[in-house]
Amino acid sequence: SSGALPVFTFEPNTAPVAAEERAQRLIGPAFGRVFTDHMAVIRYSEDKGWHDARITARGSVQMDPASSVLHYAQEIFEGLKAYSRPDGGAALFRPDANARRFNASARRMAMPELPEALFLESIRALVRTDAAWIPQDEDGALYLRPFMFASEVFLGVKPSAEYLYMVIASSVGAYFKGGAPSVSLWVTREYTRAAPGGTGAAKCGGNYATSLIAQAEAIRNGCDQVVFLDAVERRYVEELGGMNIFFVFEDGSMLTPPLTGTILPGITRDSILTLARDLGITVREELYSLEQWRADAESGRLTEAFACGTAAVVTPIGSVKSAEGGFTIGGQSAGPLTQRIRSSLVDIQRGKAADPYGWIQQI
Ligand code: PLP
Ligand code: COI
Repeated sequence: SSGALPVFTFEPNTAPVAAEERAQRLIGPAFGRVFTDHMAVIRYSEDKGWHDARITARGSVQMDPASSVLHYAQEIFEGLKAYSRPDGGAALFRPDANARRFNASARRMAMPELPEALFLESIRALVRTDAAWIPQDEDGALYLRPFMFASEVFLGVKPSAEYLYMVIASSVGAYFKGGAPSVSLWVTREYTRAAPGGTGAAKCGGNYATSLIAQAEAIRNGCDQVVFLDAVERRYVEELGGMNIFFVFEDGSMLTPPLTGTILPGITRDSILTLARDLGITVREELYSLEQWRADAESGRLTEAFACGTAAVVTPIGSVKSAEGGFTIGGQSAGPLTQRIRSSLVDIQRGKAADPYGWIQQI
């Protein structure tokens, strides 16, 4: 659609959570369980384009049972965080990158693109409205979940003519609880995440639906997270269910799987590539097989490995298990390079270090 972008109307929640109750909920929140008072909503239809933009009380969505998302899963989402700043304000980390990835996902799923300015304003307006929900502690942040789904009432298999875009916000702490110094991974042999030509690079709900059985397999095998191998050769490490992966070698170099179209192009991954290269670290974007990973871990050539993503930040990987047996990595806790990368990233996100790349957007 062309013309001016819709302006957000503000409908305040007339029964927000009381301050004392909110303070209670902000203590050690489990991921994705604590929600704020408001949400952003924008509607799309083929004839009107994007319209009816609102910040309104968080509440349920009425849907016709024939809404096409319920049948054919035309749905995409994003994940980004607002952080509290030392000066008392709040800031977003690379929200423009999320806006671009959201539209890349939209194109893959035959959905309309949302103008970047509208995506950014929906996030800013919601964070401004619900700023009191941003946790102030060291690991805390306000996790923002923009998403869009097909809302046309029609059972025909075609791109929907109507969509709903929404943003909800959740106060979160550390993603992995329990204080373990590292996580354990299960390599699934039975399931793959995405094949060439599929939706692996899109952030669509369907990718997560199909990962759940593999994640359940990981838990059954005593591991925290599943790691997927490539769908063609079943050899090369791709990514975790909700995180990208990096390997660190004894010569101080790093490796991460390349963006071949079957993994999610993580914004944390991209930020780490930039930070590492500026720290003088050699980083290769190359295929890495499970076989090689095992051999390198056992010989000591591989010294560290970590997972990264918005929710998980930078999380050390301590051990890996598959049907062929397991192996451990380094000291099974955050190695020196993992720690260095993590603090370089987190210090920029939280305003404790300069922002040489223009990644921070103050609210
Ligand atoms: N890979 C998958 C499958 C994910 O769900 C995520 C999380 O968003 C990531 C990687 C990391 O992406 P980002 O760093 O943009 O959060
Ligand atoms: C994120 O890090 O934003 C993710 O999407 C991971 C998971 C919570 C789905």
